[in-house]
Amino acid sequence: MSTAKISFDGKEVDCPLLVGTEAEVGINISAMRDRLGIVTYDPGFLSTAACTSSITYIDGDRGILRYRGYAIEDLTSAKFPAVAFLLIYGHLPSRQELLDWRRKLTLNSYIHEDMLKFFEGFPPLAHPMAILSAMVASLSAYYPDFDKEEDIDLNIVRLLAQAKTIAAYSYKKSIGQPRIYPRTEFSYMANFLRMMFATPAEEYVVSPVVEDALNLLLIVHADHEQNCSTSTVRVVGSSRANLFASVSAGLCALWGPLHGGANQAVIEMLERIQAEGGDYKAFMNRVKTKEVRLMGFGHRVYKSYDPRAKILKEAMDRVLNQLGINDPLVELAKNIEEEALRDSYFIERKLYPNVDFYSGILYRAMGIPTNMFTVMFALGRIPGWIAHWREMHMCQDQRISRPRQIYVGPSLRPAPQFDDEGFTIDGPV
Ligand code: CMC
Repeated sequence: MSTAKISFDGKEVDCPLLVGTEAEVGINISAMRDRLGIVTYDPGFLSTAACTSSITYIDGDRGILRYRGYAIEDLTSAKFPAVAFLLIYGHLPSRQELLDWRRKLTLNSYIHEDMLKFFEGFPPLAHPMAILSAMVASLSAYYPDFDKEEDIDLNIVRLLAQAKTIAAYSYKKSIGQPRIYPRTEFSYMANFLRMMFATPAEEYVVSPVVEDALNLLLIVHADHEQNCSTSTVRVVGSSRANLFASVSAGLCALWGPLHGGANQAVIEMLERIQAEGGDYKAFMNRVKTKEVRLMGFGHRVYKSYDPRAKILKEAMDRVLNQLGINDPLVELAKNIEEEALRDSYFIERKLYPNVDFYSGILYRAMGIPTNMFTVMFALGRIPGWIAHWREMHMCQDQRISRPRQIYVGPSLRPAPQFDDEGFTIDGPV
């Protein structure tokens, strides 16, 4: 079968089928409105594929996540820059490609000195996501050749390299410490940690345990196909908006508590339960009456255990043990998970821990403040956004994103009358 028939009001249209590598089937309904005069209605895109993509594959029923064909579990011992390269360019870098890529990422880490003044203008308690999204959009002002095809690869490196510098500087600004510049002898991860935690007063030694944990966290966050922020990057980029502008829009989408903001919300939720005496069963009852949501649980695509949550749960036990940290939130989180996995409310709705449930406990153990958690998610996700923006940019028949709607407002009203000052003149409205 290569087409699906849609019929309406005595007319019929043959819609071609699209079959993906893993046998998912989509019906191409592009001709439907012209031929039948109707549109599809799918708020939240529950049954709508907005594009084809070769970057990431998810099977939500079987808990499968693959980047460019590699199982996420098989990439956990890679280094984040290599995974970023894989997502963006479609293959794992050769030795020479990785050496060049790493060097470029460090040499392009400095932000324009004039941009440093921006940090002075933000209030001390500004959320780092507000700073990061504003600064990433501002990169277009500092690289005005953003539209040049031959500069796309350079702009990709600039974005990937400078986002971590902006992130670390927004933290330094919030605690009033001087900024630390990146250095070529350190890895991507070590540079970030130095910029976050080193001070001019003494040598800073990067903990290999923390470096590895951060590397893992960023890898598991690196892409997740057409999620809210990635779709945002694609929608904005479909108007041919530049890479920096498109990714800045993705950052704003990620910030919401139902998306990347959930990692901050999880820790705040666990801290609140703990502070109120640790009665998580009472909290779960409030979840079931829909008074509150259990943050870090549930997913639009995963209807089984999120493979990223599985990786991070194991890492959490290992890393906290290696760092000698005994965090009471670990036991609380595990108790909540256990309770949820045997409760019919969660079973019937197929609600499992997602990537955000355990990531915050890891960030806490690494000394990363709660309001930086979503920034950490963003640093991980930037290669994914770049890969999707680039894939779309290179697609010959890509068209501007412009959904239809079903209008449900008033029908034509009588023409209003305005006086010279612009006020409406009383009369029938
Ligand atoms: N706690 C309690 N009930 C929930 C939860 C939750 N976390 N998530 C979903 N439900 C219920 C929901 O009330 C609904 O119940 P009913 O059928 O009785 O109306 C049912 O499950 C389906 O939920 P939905 O909101 O229609 O599902 P969705 O696919 O639109 O939303 C979600 C997915 C992730 C936004 C949602 O599960 C949620 O709000 N989770 C908490 C926030 C969170 O952890 N977000 C991080 C997502 S993973 C990282 C990322 O990619 O951003």
